[in-house]
Amino acid sequence: MKPNYFFVMGIASLGFGLLVPAATPQAGHYSRNEFGVARTVSSNGQIDMTGPFFQSLGTNSRSCDTCHRENQGWSISPDDVRERFDHTKGLDPIFRLVDGSNSPNATVNTVQDRRRAYSMLLTKGLIRVERPIPAGAEFSLVTVNDPYHFASAAGLSLFRRPLPTTNLRFISTVMWDGREVNPATPMTIANTLAQNQAILAASLAHQSLDATNGHAQGNVPL
Ligand code: HEC
Repeated sequence: MKPNYFFVMGIASLGFGLLVPAATPQAGHYSRNEFGVARTVSSNGQIDMTGPFFQSLGTNSRSCDTCHRENQGWSISPDDVRERFDHTKGLDPIFRLVDGSNSPNATVNTVQDRRRAYSMLLTKGLIRVERPIPAGAEFSLVTVNDPYHFASAAGLSLFRRPLPTTNLRFISTVMWDGREVNPATPMTIANTLAQNQAILAASLAHQSLDATNGHAQGNVPL
């Protein structure tokens, strides 16, 4: 797990606990972790756990909640992933060849196969994000040492932890590399707040579509 998320959330909930009088309770979402209890507070008062975020909208049984879990700071942690592996013998929807395994060509017939195939996910909580070297990159690919015999310059295997899907109103770009924001219209300090909010909303809408088509292997656009 990334302890800093829990730390921040822990402090946030402590702050609310101290500042919000008991007379105005919010519908609370509490989850336990090794540091105590984390709480998610929604400005809507509650989170609809039956909403699209929690529905399987693609073809491989995954939902957004497969990789963005409330009790994991809206991301995942190796502990949580390993627990799911043990409970399901490695068949939980997070274990899918499309991006859960070290290579999409991995063999996953037996539990032993799956333990090997999903080792980056099981040991580090990482999803394989496939990206080419961008045009005009300030670097080039000099040598390849890929133990999974899959990655190429046209599709590097970038192993990344899911970013937490919370407090998104405060982000200044979407994804680790910002690729879900149209480069022609970045969020900048020269924009008005309303302009940046509109760009963010459009970027997140696009992100949901890409996540459904990619991670969840959807075949009907949202
Ligand atoms: C298989 C796991 C997986 C699933 C399923 C998944 N995500 Fe993600 N998500 C990730 C990963 C990994 C990243 C970071 C990838 C990157 O930056 O390249 C990410 C990043 C994000 C971000 C970026 C947050 C930020 O701070 O920039 C948002 C928003 C997001 N996901 C929303 C969703 C939504 C909405 C769904 C469902 C439609 C979804 N995700 C389904 C793994 C997943």
